Parts: sequence; structure tokens; C-alpha cells
Amino acid sequence: MRILIVEDEEKLRRVIELQLSSDEHEVVTAANGEEALRKIEGVDLVITDLKMPGMDGLSLLERISRDSPSTPVVVMTAFGNVETAVEAMKRGAIDFLQKPFSLDHLSTVVFKALEVRRLRTENQRLQEELVTRNTFGNLIGRSPGMQEVFRLVERVAPSRATVLLCGESGVGKDMVARAIHFHSPRRTQPLVKINCSALPENLMESELFGYEKGAFTGASIARPGKFEQADQGTVFLDEIGDVPMAVQVKLLRILQEREFERLGSNRTRQIDVRVIAATNVDLRAALEGGRFREDLYYRLNVMPINIPSLRERREDIPALAQHFMAKYGDGKQRLSPGALDKLLANDWPGNVRELENVIERSLLLASGEELQASEIRIDMGPRSRQTSAEPYFLPAGMTLDEYEQSILKEALKRASGNKSQAARLLGITRNALRYRLSQIGIDDKEPD
Ligand SMILES: Nc1ncnc2c1ncn2[C@@H]1O[C@H](COP(=O)(O)OP(=O)(O)OP(=O)(O)O)[C@@H](O)[C@H]1O
Ligand SMILES: [Mg+2]
Repeated sequence: MRILIVEDEEKLRRVIELQLSSDEHEVVTAANGEEALRKIEGVDLVITDLKMPGMDGLSLLERISRDSPSTPVVVMTAFGNVETAVEAMKRGAIDFLQKPFSLDHLSTVVFKALEVRRLRTENQRLQEELVTRNTFGNLIGRSPGMQEVFRLVERVAPSRATVLLCGESGVGKDMVARAIHFHSPRRTQPLVKINCSALPENLMESELFGYEKGAFTGASIARPGKFEQADQGTVFLDEIGDVPMAVQVKLLRILQEREFERLGSNRTRQIDVRVIAATNVDLRAALEGGRFREDLYYRLNVMPINIPSLRERREDIPALAQHFMAKYGDGKQRLSPGALDKLLANDWPGNVRELENVIERSLLLASGEELQASEIRIDMGPRSRQTSAEPYFLPAGMTLDEYEQSILKEALKRASGNKSQAARLLGITRNALRYRLSQIGIDDKEPD
């Protein structure tokens, strides 16, 4: 351990230095408080005299307790001067040595003090760990919804149980699937991802289960499928709702019997895989529509984990935003309070992925170190794309009046306040616009 001895009397300084060096400590010395402060970097324990020219022991002690509270300080006091010893303890010294002291006593006091130092550092580490429990692996989330997700991931990871991850696009299903695999005993084995919606039906079977030579035209060599590649590991079936009925039967067999055949082969193969499936649609709707097998659904739904949308856990936005600022920025930029408010108020139909994109884009356009609300560019594009499958409707939580009001204001903004131009943008006459504006109390007195 590295110990700093602060003592103006050279002889005593030497004696202590010798003793502690022979106890195998690394010793640094200083003749007064100022010198001590210059040498304190990396020191595990300070032993200081109280009476010294210049900065005395008590002032030094105060500086250390304030600036590096985990560094213990032992003070040396003159014989019979109990009050000063007590005063020093009050100000944060962890022990004192009354002069003259034996070298054995010195070693004992130092040993005890270093033990305290170890406990303090340990305690600090545990505290920091408590703080970082807001994350799980590289998943961020302090909201109750995400805490529940972390708890479930921890519980299911050790087993081979099939897990079904449900959540909107961009909520982090991929990340949760990885977290499960990497917290499982299979972590050293492959994690093979299959995007079920990206594969045309005829390719999907050969992709999943592999094929033998000559199984179909073009199959000039035999190839193992994704399930075989994942043997002993984990298969992540993304967008499971898009698996065609014909393939669903085979998946069911894998889940139930852990066996399958390659295309063009009669040989049944055994396999040991853990299956994690993900969906951003409600599978029950697909069940009722007859597009999904009931038996497969129940096999998959053994351990469902619902990942809440970002707008259902807005308290995660600050930490996520910070995380993406660090990821895409130079580490110096901050969010202004207004910018954070803007992020907090948004609905995030594209969830965490959209937040990530917005931060990345905003940082590209930002000028200063503090990102302003006006520099946060929330793209309205994905929003309309997101809902394009459904008939167009009001944004969640808005009334028709509120919606009209926000559109009128936006039109005015785009037209820089010019009402004729705003009216053109809206496809109504200037008079109609004026009427509507007066209805919502927007001043109509200017000539334009
Ligand atoms: N809790 C989180 N902490 C940190 N980053 C996250 C978190 N959740 C999501 N992300 C990030 O958001 C992005 C989208 O996450 P991911 O790909 O896991 O979503 P998904 O639910 O699989 O989306 P999709 O349904 O579109 O496949 C990724 O870049 C991921 O790094
Ligand atoms: Mg995904």
C-alpha cells in the first residue's frame, strides 16, 4: 500500500518511513501540509503530524476528507494532548498515534487503517453497482416496466425454456434476446438469428432446416440449416408472426421433440437448441384470423416477456438519450433542459430506435455543446409510415379540436406567419383560416 507521512521533524519522519517500508509499504514523505497535498495522488493512507509550519495537520485533514473522502487519515499528537486527538477524530481522522509511540503500535494502527480503507472502497463499489442496476448488460431502463423485463430475463436465462418477446418495433427485442442468450449457460455457443419476415416461404424451409444434395434444382451440395448451426446454442426467431403455416408445423416439432429432417432427407436429426421468438404484432389476432397455429402459439407462449413501448416508460428517456449522446457525440455535448423536455413530450412511435436516430441526427446538426430544443429534429416521416397499414386517425390522446389547433399552428409556422400562404398550405380560403383561428383564440388583427 502507498502511505504518505507528513511530519516536519526529519528524524521522526525517517524512523516511520523505515518501519513502514520494512512492512512492505510504499512510502511517500512530506514536511508540511502543502507538500502533502501535492503528493496525495494515489495514496491509500495518510499519517500526519498536527503541529507543522504553514498548513497544519487539522487543515490538511479537512482538505483530504473533503477532496478524497475514501483516503483515511491517522494523526500524530503530542503526548497528553487528548483534546486535539478528539478534535481530529471529529473532523474525520480514523485513528491517532500519541507520541512517543512504539513501532509495533505504529504497524498495528496502520494495518487497521488500511482495513478501513479497503472496506470504504468496497462499499463505494457496491454503491456504484446499485446505481448501475438501472442497466442490465447494455440494456438501459429504470422504469418499473423495464425492471420487470430485467427480472424476467434473469429468471428465464439459466433454463432452456422457450421465450416469446412481445413489443412494438424498436423497443429492444433484439437486445433482450441477446441478453437472455448471454446470461444463459449457452453463452459460449452460437446465437443464430432468423428474420422470418425477410424470407420468402419456399426459401424459409431450406434456410431453417437445411437440405441434402439434390433436394431441389440447384441444391448441388448439402447444407445444414440455421437450427443445425445453432446446436447447443440459441435460435432467435424474429417476427415469428410471419412464419407460413407449412413451416409452423415443423417449428412445433422442433419445440416439442427437438427433432427435424433436412429437406430431401429421411434421416431424423436430434438437436439441442433454445428458442427465443419475437413479435411486434398481437399473435392472438393472428390466431383468430387462422394465420397462426394454436398449438404453436401455446408452445411459444410458455414464458412471454412484454417490452413496453417507450411512451409507456418516459422515465427511461433521459438515461437513453444520455447513452446515445455519448455513443454518437464527442462526450462533451449535453442536452439543454428544453431539449430534454422536447424528447420527453414526444410519443416515439418508433420507440428506442427512433430516439437513437433522432439523437444521432441532432448531433450532426448541432452547433454548440448544449443541444437546444430547436436542434432536436424529430422526423414526422416514420410516424405516418408506421400507421400506414391502419386507417388514418388522430394521434393517441388528442381530441379533434386539439389536433386541428396544432395543424393550424404548424401551417402558420411553415408560412412564417403569412396567413394567405398558410391557407394555401391547408387548402382552404384565407377567410376560412381566419375564422378557424378566431375560434381557437389566435389573434386576427394584423392586416395580413
Ligand atoms: N433498453 C435499451 N438500452 C439501450 N439501447 C436500446 C435499448 N432498447 C433498444 N435499444 C437500441 O434501440 C435500437 C432498436 O433496438 P432493437 O433492434 O433491439 O429493437 P427491436 O424491438 O428488435 O425492433 P424491431 O421490432 O424493429 O426488430 C437498437 O439500436 C438498440 O441498440
Ligand atoms: Mg428486432
